[in-house]
Amino acid sequence: MKILNSISAWQKWRNAIPPTQSVGLVPTMGALHAGHQSLIRRCRQENDICTISLFVNPTQFNDQEDLANYPNTFEADRKLCEDEGVDAIFFPDYNELYPDDYRYRVSESEVSRLLCGAHRPGHFDGVLSVVMKLLNLARPDRAYFGEKDWQQLQLVKGMVEAFFMPVTIVGCPTVRDTDQLALSSRNFRLSQVDRQKAAGFPRILSTQAPAEQVARLLEADGFAVDYVQDFKGRRCAAIHCGEVRLIDNLPLYEKGEHI
Ligand code: PAF
Repeated sequence: MKILNSISAWQKWRNAIPPTQSVGLVPTMGALHAGHQSLIRRCRQENDICTISLFVNPTQFNDQEDLANYPNTFEADRKLCEDEGVDAIFFPDYNELYPDDYRYRVSESEVSRLLCGAHRPGHFDGVLSVVMKLLNLARPDRAYFGEKDWQQLQLVKGMVEAFFMPVTIVGCPTVRDTDQLALSSRNFRLSQVDRQKAAGFPRILSTQAPAEQVARLLEADGFAVDYVQDFKGRRCAAIHCGEVRLIDNLPLYEKGEHI
């Protein structure tokens, strides 16, 4: 498994892959868990070459404390990738990936302002900009994103369409813990007490009631609610459990009821 830190090393490695071989990319910010593992496995199954990027992207953090607290587990991430048969890890630093210091950026003007975008100004500009860079560098046939970040997935699909980018975006099902909490790198930051309490989030979110009522139920359970909203076939929500912001979404069917 190659670990590539510089753009030039990545490009050299990428250019050596014959066009007959398909390439998949799993973009991540590290702190890998079973959710990422499922993306890697899908990428492995569907492509000749499986690549992953590990980059904690500062431009998508509107809160500097959130960025500072983001878990860094490189050694465990490297081992997971090796065990899963990843061919190459791209692990750049900010200066490599942002030679322009973020003067140039990708911006979407509708969907990116809703839901998480309304609470995290600039977040999706940062996400789309870094994903565009990673896709341009990796030139994958397919790129893999978790459905847990439903709004991100819709925006990445929209960007790829809008800019005629030759890549298929593959959305993969959310992986959940035994108590149904969606796996997230942020879960590592929950205290033991808050981790137990967090199980109430998916449980209450699955209540078959209007979104506003579900928001009230979450508040009554002690969560600070950013939003509960139905969007593109899903009931999406973001809450704060102690110091940690969690997001989730569940499929809807007609009349706003959960499948
Ligand atoms: O979902 C994530 O981990 C990040 O938003 C992504 C897509 C890797 C961009 O930094």
